[in-house]
Amino acid sequence: PTLGIVLVAAGRGERLGASAPKAFIDLRGRKLIEFGIAVATSLPHTGHLAVVVPEDRAAQALEIVNRVVPADSPWTVTVVPGGRERHESVRFGLDALPDSIDTVLVHDAARPFASAELFERVIGEVRRTGDSVIPALRVADTLKRIDDEGIVHETVDRTPLVAVQTPQGFPRETLAAAHATAQLHADIPTDDAELVQRAGGRVRTVPGEINAHKLTTPEDLRLLEFFLTAHAL
Ligand code: CTP
Ligand code: MG
Repeated sequence: PTLGIVLVAAGRGERLGASAPKAFIDLRGRKLIEFGIAVATSLPHTGHLAVVVPEDRAAQALEIVNRVVPADSPWTVTVVPGGRERHESVRFGLDALPDSIDTVLVHDAARPFASAELFERVIGEVRRTGDSVIPALRVADTLKRIDDEGIVHETVDRTPLVAVQTPQGFPRETLAAAHATAQLHADIPTDDAELVQRAGGRVRTVPGEINAHKLTTPEDLRLLEFFLTAHAL
């Protein structure tokens, strides 16, 4: 069995507001995208990685791949131009994977410190169950529903709520079939697991991890820099 990983890095990073797209900003001297490429190709699997980037960053991405992935790696890597929306970027990545692949992970480059253990947990559960699998964290804070003015209306029961992360894992045909129906939805979800669910598939959770936190705002950048220091990553 062969593993496929789609690393989506083609977003503009508008909420971060940096001068470069999010995946190409510097984190202590390394480009954000390097971390995802390194962890994916460190996994002890025979696999294919599709790195999906803004079209005008393809040459730079290829240079990074050649520097980060050892020449004798069992992984093959391709760089693919992304789309306007995340679901398009995922589909372009999926389409670039060879036919031999049975299990696919989709991972946000914006979660640079998701661990190899988390990847393996997701892969293992997909292969054990045949279902789609996403990392999830229990929400610790009290949750309240507010209106546009920030006025609180009620406390929401957090018992059945989790916050979900990537890598998200799928049997290849399940994800491909879900993406084939994406255009049928008026509002196309950004989350691949949601697409699978709408197509009737079962999605289960495994424990997520704080390290897999997503870089969205400048405040997240400070948090990730702190992770880098604290874990000597
Ligand atoms: N992504 C992508 N193609 C897009 C949009 C998003 O590959 N058209 C990727 C991003 O690069 C990121 C992941 O999907 O790794 C999660 O998206 P998000 O955090 O929303 O990143 P951006 O879209 O870049 O940020 P923003 O929404 O603030 O512009
Ligand atoms: Mg976005």
